[in-house]
Amino acid sequence: HVLDIDPNAASKGTYEFYMLKEIDEQPGVMRRLSQDYLDENGEPLVDQKIVDAVANADRIYIFAAGTSYHAGLVGKDLFEKYTGIPTEVGYASEAGYHFPIMSKRPLFIFLSQSGETADSRVVLKEANKRGITSLTMTNVEGSTLSREADFTMLLKAGPEIAVASTKAYTAQIALQAILAKAVGEKLANQDAKDFDLKHQLALAAEGIQEIVDGKERFAELAKKYLIASRNAFYIGRGIDHAVALEGALKLKEVSYIQTEGFAAAELKHGTISLIEDGTPVIALINDPVTADLTRGNIQEVTSRGASVITIVGKQFAKENDDVVLPDLNYYLSPLLTVVPTQLLAYYASKEKGLDVDKPRNLAKSVTVE
Ligand code: G6P
Repeated sequence: HVLDIDPNAASKGTYEFYMLKEIDEQPGVMRRLSQDYLDENGEPLVDQKIVDAVANADRIYIFAAGTSYHAGLVGKDLFEKYTGIPTEVGYASEAGYHFPIMSKRPLFIFLSQSGETADSRVVLKEANKRGITSLTMTNVEGSTLSREADFTMLLKAGPEIAVASTKAYTAQIALQAILAKAVGEKLANQDAKDFDLKHQLALAAEGIQEIVDGKERFAELAKKYLIASRNAFYIGRGIDHAVALEGALKLKEVSYIQTEGFAAAELKHGTISLIEDGTPVIALINDPVTADLTRGNIQEVTSRGASVITIVGKQFAKENDDVVLPDLNYYLSPLLTVVPTQLLAYYASKEKGLDVDKPRNLAKSVTVE
């Protein structure tokens, strides 16, 4: 079985950096996953053995590192919503040596772009020793984590060259959604049956396209608010908290601006002491339950001098919001919300004259513990 990768996929073409090329490829990745993993009626095309194994689990444990870990945080919400199976997410590097207490029928999911991360391999080895069923979601066919796990699902994002991961993150979210729907339907979960994933992924592809078509906007925002700053914050609640963590990682890894992602309301319990005149705070709002509360948290930092950039789903938008995103299912909203954070990171790095694709001290794949 040969992956249908375009021979030009690993070339930069007219792009100055791979990172922007890979951000731009995300609509295509969404369409490919939809085509390959959902039939024309939107029913999941997932290996029945995988669906049965996950459906049989009383608890799902997701292990990963870095950006893949952040995709796992979104996966937790997807699996719990659409399968009803309690789901935990852990840093592979921690779980390897402090193995969590296991439920009776655990199922492990490893998220890894490269399929080679040493920290994740430690956990998988232990899982295999204990006879725990495992599934690897990876972008690399035949990779170590794929070979050593019971099952593999491929991300099909095409080669990701920039050290900062972008399209693998959105692919991991979409693929987890596909698996969650397949398993949920098998378990007769009504939310899974009602989940119009094919339509939602089409909307995601369109929405990402709309955002990347307006990318100049993010170059301006990065120049105006970020590049002169030593630090920055991302805040959000609910699923936006998961994206805040990823947005912060992306910005700090490529721009060297010290950035933290926070659950919006936690800032006031300590970290708000770091807010000064002009400190950039990027606020994400897509959660219907907490949208107004996050507005309150924005007030708290604004009144202490923060320069706030708001990234807001259309249904929650107010007059002065900076970035308004097209509507999308809440559980998939990270597919859109993350894109402005990727673009802000890209432009902050580029405007500072840094090597966007190869930030100092980082490697694409970390095969040491
Ligand atoms: C490295 C990369 C990160 C990546 C992490 C996990 O640290 O620099 O961008 O998120 O590894 O990689 P994986 O291949 O397992 O997703």
